[in-house]
Amino acid sequence: MTVQLDEFKTRQRATWEAGDYATLSPRIAEVGELVAARAGTAPGMSVLDVACGTGNAAIPAARAGARVTGLDLTPKLLEQGRAQAESEGLQIEWVEGDAEELPFEDASFDRVLSTFGHMFAPRHGRVADEMGRVCRPGGAIVTATWTQEGIFGSMSAASAPFMPPPPEYASPPVLWGDEEYVREMFGSAATAFEFERHVNWQEEESLEEFADLFMERFPLMVTARAMLGDRFPELRERIVEIWRDANEATDGSLRLPQEYLLSIVRL
Ligand SMILES: C[S@@+](CC[C@H](N)C(=O)[O-])C[C@H]1O[C@@H](n2cnc3c(N)ncnc32)[C@H](O)[C@@H]1O
Repeated sequence: MTVQLDEFKTRQRATWEAGDYATLSPRIAEVGELVAARAGTAPGMSVLDVACGTGNAAIPAARAGARVTGLDLTPKLLEQGRAQAESEGLQIEWVEGDAEELPFEDASFDRVLSTFGHMFAPRHGRVADEMGRVCRPGGAIVTATWTQEGIFGSMSAASAPFMPPPPEYASPPVLWGDEEYVREMFGSAATAFEFERHVNWQEEESLEEFADLFMERFPLMVTARAMLGDRFPELRERIVEIWRDANEATDGSLRLPQEYLLSIVRL
């Protein structure tokens, strides 16, 4: 039976509330810093971080002096982002909302950012239209998205057979990791595109330690475990195998390259 859109989003919110994403997001904080830097965030600029979670792009944009709004579906993560920002004395407006229906006027931001966030909204064309609508002409949309060829792509492929098929309106998040796809999605709004591929390194004392941490805390895995029950160990083993193959450490520790695409879409 097809899951209705509202129900799909309720489940997405429950998924991102599961586990403990706030303790993992610092591991990709450098990506938010790079996205904010590539966006040229500066004092006085208005910036929106779409699907901001705990604020990985919003916080460095605010540190740069921009007027920042962070929007996310999941209140728990917004509260954790707010606490972090307040501890640094940063003013950010945190808004609960949907990337597919941004509650902002046309052309209200100089920069629209997203780090591994907008890629999880189900209707990609709709998200691209919304991000383009709220960004002013002459502004830029700057995003980071995991690639199909990287670790996230391999993990998505390994997980798919274990999960119920997605509803027909929901496109796979990893499509956003492809330059041509980004061009296609933002095509009508864009005047120019720039792309960079980067790697975020995950390091840990051992693969086993990383696996325990990730499986206990990463929302998608915590949700899969609850859904799969006895079948979860099989999925866990497949994912650990992917990490084992990709591990570049030779001393028994873990050094895992996670490739992502940084896209700059100029309007
Ligand atoms: C991997 S987290 C990324 C969070 C943050 N940008 C970061 O870099 O850590 C994915 C985020 O997308 C949010 N999300 C998923 N679907 C969404 C939607 N339709 N609208 C807004 N946020 C959404 C989740 O709540 C979650 O915070």
